[in-house]
Amino acid sequence: MDSLQVTGGVRLAGEVRASGAKNAALPILAASLLADGPVTIGNVPHLRDVTTMIGLLGRMGAGVTVGDRMQVEVEARGITEPFAPYELVRTMRASILVLGPLLARHGEARVSLPGGCAIGARPVDLHVAGLEALGAEVSIESGYIHARARRLEGARIVLETVTVTGTENLMMAATLARGRTVIENAAREPEVVDLAGCLQAMGAAITGAGTDTIVIEGRERLAGCSYEVLPDRIETGTFLVAGAITGGCVRVRGTRPDHLDAVLGKLREAGAAVTTGVDWIEVDMQGRRPLAVDIRTAPYPAFPTDMQAQFAALDAVAEGVGTIVETVFENRYMHLLELRRLGAEVSLDGRTAVIRGVERLSGAPVMATDLRASASLVLAGLVAEGTTDIARIYHIDRGYERFEEKLGQLGAVIRRVPGRA
Ligand code: EPZ
Repeated sequence: MDSLQVTGGVRLAGEVRASGAKNAALPILAASLLADGPVTIGNVPHLRDVTTMIGLLGRMGAGVTVGDRMQVEVEARGITEPFAPYELVRTMRASILVLGPLLARHGEARVSLPGGCAIGARPVDLHVAGLEALGAEVSIESGYIHARARRLEGARIVLETVTVTGTENLMMAATLARGRTVIENAAREPEVVDLAGCLQAMGAAITGAGTDTIVIEGRERLAGCSYEVLPDRIETGTFLVAGAITGGCVRVRGTRPDHLDAVLGKLREAGAAVTTGVDWIEVDMQGRRPLAVDIRTAPYPAFPTDMQAQFAALDAVAEGVGTIVETVFENRYMHLLELRRLGAEVSLDGRTAVIRGVERLSGAPVMATDLRASASLVLAGLVAEGTTDIARIYHIDRGYERFEEKLGQLGAVIRRVPGRA
């Protein structure tokens, strides 16, 4: 397995371009299963998770062509087998997103239960309960969700927990149901809004995406369309933290400042000069050491859990003591144990992490455990003395397009070391 070797001490400077959002591209690719015609999707990031989703669509019988600029065309009328096998789903839990579209379009779907992952149990009970509310018969047998419905019936669904892919799965299923569906306590993430935009381009009648109440009027059919995926706000935030943690000045172009209010607020609290334009954000640390900040994650528009690990790295070298409370996932602190190996002073008090910033970290071999944890270890390596070797960086390849190349553009000393195994 490949590893990344990072040599610390460089103040990053310059600009990078944001890629398309992984967490919008995945549901939008799944949504193509609903269409009676080809769906062309632009600005798709070239990531392992996207390749996995494309492979899953192909395996079910959809025709998928990928253009030279990663525009992806899906022709799903040829689906012969509405089935997502365990060996694919276990590599990417977002495969659960094909459940709603397959059921709505084909009246049946068999999708493997995703199982847990490093950051938590990640149940899908709310996805299943919502589909049952829409009239599906669902049984769980030998690790598979088996859902059937001649035609889904619109219903009012109240989600007891805000769930991003749960909201997306149910919104997609409701587009072909008979009558009206109201999803209460819906996720408000920009990726949910982007999916709704694509569904509307296909002819779906959806209002309220981006609020906690989404209303869908079911249609008989949806047409093909062309749609462009929105920029990745988490990738953007990760590069902004890279600028802040190294005391440098980094601009991210082709992004949406309005999707990062909570993150930009925390970067300002950490002492960064943050400026924004219509489609760019710049963080200038002016050579200063960051100030420690307190983070509490929660569903959008609050501080995103996917940026928590990156700010843990920032706090690790900040002036003062910062606290982190992760309220979305039950086990998203693994990166803290690895940051300790680099000299971070971290203690866990129940669900609160207390980080006392140190003047400097020292490079050491560490291991990535999940996507955003890997990013936080790279960020720490950018400021640690000496070299940090990060193993199992396939996690990074799942969610960051050309990560080391873009960091290199900013001056980082980072290289990929091909794996032995
Ligand atoms: C999405 O995961 C993202 N993935 C995650 O990004 C992100 O961290 C998460 O939302 C929260 O923002 C994609 O969009 C592909 P949830 P998702 O359902 O939808 C509980 C990354 O780094 N829950 O919003 O799986 C769940 O256990 C990834 O790119 C249930 O209890 O997350 C969690 O505590 C990591 N039952 C909470 O809801 C359910 O049926 C929020 O999870 C579903 C969820």
